[in-house]
Amino acid sequence: MFDIHCHMLPGVDDGPADTEEALEMIEASYIDGIRHIAMTSHLNHPLGFPGEDDYDGIFCDFKKLVKGHYPDLEIYPAAEVYISRKMLSEMDKIDIRSINNTKYVLVEFSRNVRFHEMDMAVHELKIMGYKVIIAHLEQYHSVREKYDDIRQLKADGAVIQCNAENFSKDSRYSRVVEELMKRNLVDLVASDCHNTVDRAPGLRKTFDAVSRKYGRMTAERMFLENPERIIKGEDLAANPVDTTGKKGGMAYRSLIMKLAAVAAVGIVVAALLMSKGILPVPDIEVAAGDEDSVKYVEAVDDVEEKDVAETEKVNDEGMKDTEYLDTNADDNNNSIDDNNVSGYENRGDESADVDEYGTGSETVEKSDEEILVGGYVSYLEDLEAEYMETCESYYTMLKAAIDIEDEAERDAEIDDILDELGRVETRSDNQVYKTLYDMQNDLEECEYDVAVVRELREHYLDVKMEVSEEYKAQLEEYGNLNL
Ligand SMILES: [Fe+2]
Repeated sequence: MFDIHCHMLPGVDDGPADTEEALEMIEASYIDGIRHIAMTSHLNHPLGFPGEDDYDGIFCDFKKLVKGHYPDLEIYPAAEVYISRKMLSEMDKIDIRSINNTKYVLVEFSRNVRFHEMDMAVHELKIMGYKVIIAHLEQYHSVREKYDDIRQLKADGAVIQCNAENFSKDSRYSRVVEELMKRNLVDLVASDCHNTVDRAPGLRKTFDAVSRKYGRMTAERMFLENPERIIKGEDLAANPVDTTGKKGGMAYRSLIMKLAAVAAVGIVVAALLMSKGILPVPDIEVAAGDEDSVKYVEAVDDVEEKDVAETEKVNDEGMKDTEYLDTNADDNNNSIDDNNVSGYENRGDESADVDEYGTGSETVEKSDEEILVGGYVSYLEDLEAEYMETCESYYTMLKAAIDIEDEAERDAEIDDILDELGRVETRSDNQVYKTLYDMQNDLEECEYDVAVVRELREHYLDVKMEVSEEYKAQLEEYGNLNL
């Protein structure tokens, strides 16, 4: 079996936190029957994931490591290339890493991308000699129910990839995938795995389910034949005739509850620093009542395709909390976790500073945007508190270490502590970027301003630098400059 969309390289993007987890992902894939894996780390993503520039070296080292453990498993260089609106006008300048150096390029867009932008990317890359694979098309709300648009993309040369997890009834995209399958619009399935916990590797279960529901030939085309042809750079197998079913419904919801699935590793998070006055507070309006509607309608007016807004049931009524949050009420696993929301509210009550997000006022009705942003901020605050505690303990250890009289012993101890701090930072990066990535996707999906995500990212980098400088100053004081 082939998996051509995976985030498995250690130290690159928001995939596994370390080599150990990366190897666990490889092992899980191997046990699942997968023997060919494309390492599609994010490339050009606006979040600027760590390790992007080190991809080649990390890939080579990891390939050797994998070969040592599993001689019959092949991994291939690749990327999930992010294409923004801005990049569309200068496609020749963006970095491309095709799958196994073939003509196939896996591409992702902003979650609120429009059809014509996708189509333009397909055309532009075609001119450059590439064939576009649109990653997890089911997640782009502007096109996922517009079957004529999808057919047009395919006619223009795009290949449609869906994520295996979205075939599950537990996925909020399961109905979208089902409608796409009914119309024979899906070319291939991949895992898009990121870790061993909530986005784990594995295709067998989905392969078996697809075989049962749509037939063995269809499953083999999407899981075996087409991925193999992509790895080899060959043209894909022809899809069966498009049978076209009735238009399906699509619902989406806030992902605040998703935060609960993210491991609670201590990390630096800029959000809390806002409450300490170190960082500026994002420009999020505290809207109430009708202002909510006005703000959203303005955002919708800003886009060219108003029918998208209608499709998404966004109108002058605005996105009232109940309407928006209950959209998937029939989906057990997708119900909103009220505790998360109320936890965010409670936090606001406890801290006057957080009131700047509108969380502390009992009289202000929060908009969906504020609830969504606040959920993430609240989560990040908790992680930050844990991180500060961790840092404090290392700081104490460092101070003790530099008091050791024996020079060799002292240097060894300091080296050990700094090594461990490096691991803490790597884990921190991993968790922060995972969270920011989810946050950006959620905001984009709702057409909200994503500037706050970039602000959090920038401040995260500043805070890391600040912490690093603190340790450096401490060591310099003792005449040790080996940082
Ligand atoms: Fe991906």
